[in-house]
Parts: sequence; C-alpha cells; structure tokens
Amino acid sequence: MSRANTDEKSERRLIRRRKFAFASIFAFLTANFFMTLRFFFPRTLFEPKTSFKVGYPTDFGFGVDTRFQQKYRIWVVRNAEGIFVISAICTHLGCTPDWVESEQKFKCPCHGSGYDSEGRNFEGPAPRPMDRAHVELAPDGQILVDVSRIYKCPPGAPCEFREDGSYLPV
Ligand code: FES
Repeated sequence: MSRANTDEKSERRLIRRRKFAFASIFAFLTANFFMTLRFFFPRTLFEPKTSFKVGYPTDFGFGVDTRFQQKYRIWVVRNAEGIFVISAICTHLGCTPDWVESEQKFKCPCHGSGYDSEGRNFEGPAPRPMDRAHVELAPDGQILVDVSRIYKCPPGAPCEFREDGSYLPV
C-alpha cells in the first residue's frame, strides 16, 4: 500500500471523526436549547376560579340547589333566613358527599358521614359541619361566591355561620 493511500485513508477517518464530533455537539446544543425553551413554558395547573357568580337570589327556591356541584364543588341552600353556600367537601377526609333528596340529607360515600340539609353533621365520623363559602351580592344583583373565604363551625369553638358574608339575608 502506498503512503499516499494511507494518508488519504487517515484523512478520511479524521474527517469522519470531526463530522461525528460536530454532530454530537450540535445534538447536545439543540437538546439544551429545547430544554431551556421548555423552562419558559412550565407545566402549570390552572386552578378553577375561586370567585364566581351563581345567579340572582330569585333563581333559588327553598332547599338545596345542586346545579353547581360539578363545576364549583358547592351547593347553594336557601332557608327562611337567607341563602348560603356549602362547600361540598366532607369534613372527615375530604370526599364529596351526595345530596339525597328523598332523605333530605347529604351522605358521604367514603365512610358514611351524614349531614342535614344545612350541612350539619349528624352521623358517621365527620367531626364538624361542612364549611360555608363567602357570599355577597355583586353590583349587578347576582350572588357572588368566594370559595377562598371559608366559614367553619367546629365543636368547642365559635361558630362562624352567623358572621357577615357567611350567608345572604334575603
Ligand atoms: S370522607 Fe366523608 S366520611 Fe370519610
């Protein structure tokens, strides 16, 4: 084999190695570029709104209204004193109870806690009534609910269910 041939072969090998090195660096930089780009688009969890309108007071008759259970996890309740909003979260371990119209009670499917139509616990392991969300009238006359402002009624502590904002006198 001639020396010229050997030189040519080693040069080709060198070129191949350089190409491979450049391709590796390019792939590395491209991957880094996309990882950096991804950083600017974090996987955020868009929480549902905590404040929303549910309609006018006249839209609600006496009793429990379950229309907003799926969308906002609340029930709107009207009694002789006014309108209030129950947060549909069992105070035992956080399951969503069901409204049982025929028995006029909320029943938790997880461990059997029962609540009356105003969300007061009377059976099962639930330690306290279900919490209530803040309600007020918006300027347009609709009921504005804010589930980030909660009223509780724990046993042995002051009950917040008569505080301003815990119900809407109508
Ligand atoms: S979570 Fe409702 S009874 Fe346990």
